[in-house]
Amino acid sequence: MKDSREHILKKLLDAESVVYFTGAGISAESGISTFRGAGGIWNKLKPEELASFDAFLRNPDLVWEWYQYRRTVLKDAKPNAAHIAIAESEKSFPNVDVVTQNVDNLHRRAGSTSVYELHGNIERNFCIKCHTYYNQPDLPFENKAPKCECGGLIRPDVVWFGEYLPQEVFEASEQAARNCDVMFVIGTSAVVYPAAGIPSMAIRHGAYLIEINIEPTDITYSVNASLMGKAGEVLPGLLNEIKPPKK
Ligand code: OAD
Repeated sequence: MKDSREHILKKLLDAESVVYFTGAGISAESGISTFRGAGGIWNKLKPEELASFDAFLRNPDLVWEWYQYRRTVLKDAKPNAAHIAIAESEKSFPNVDVVTQNVDNLHRRAGSTSVYELHGNIERNFCIKCHTYYNQPDLPFENKAPKCECGGLIRPDVVWFGEYLPQEVFEASEQAARNCDVMFVIGTSAVVYPAAGIPSMAIRHGAYLIEINIEPTDITYSVNASLMGKAGEVLPGLLNEIKPPKK
């Protein structure tokens, strides 16, 4: 920790607008593997074989199998105490936005109402030829990548390596970063750009940054407060201290 807890709480009590910038670590306590660090997915699997458009064209069935596996894990997963504390904090601050790199939909399932998904959402899919959208339950997988009525391959609506982020979502996230008083940076290694540039943008525009992570990251040296520990324990503990609701 850099600033004292008292100072952090004062910043929170004064905050009108709060942004939660989240990564895979916030969902770790829901049983979903992170990408890097101990037990990280990219320690065992190669992103270039599973998370790029070239990989999808080379072997769509394999990429579908991988995403179906992740969806199966997600089906049994529930939002954890950190996701829930974020959603409930909408009662404590006049304006709350979640900017997430996660595709797991857990922020929405926890009840957050303003969620910007920088890397897409694993429950949505679209045809690469005619761009028709398909929701997950409508697309059963039988070992073959599904095809659209137009004959085009259907892919998950997630951002793969080498692809642009959804422009409107990115711009709205940047705006939220520019306008917030406090930004939490939770459970992200903060190394994948352009998403990882969002906290720096908030810093440049005068926001107060609080990081929550189980270990130091690339961003730790530039935040105001660094709280080491599990998101599902540290965040609810902190937010409980500024209840009752301000509005
Ligand atoms: P990473 O896997 O890179 O980082 C996860 C972070 O969460 C690490 O810094 C861990 O220390 C931390 N962590 C783990 N468990 C935690 C817990 N219980 N509480 C708090 N922190 C915890 O995940 P991201 O930064 O989200 O991109 O990765 C960014 C992007 O890289 C992902 O969106 C994905 C990936 O390749 C795409 O798919 C485009």
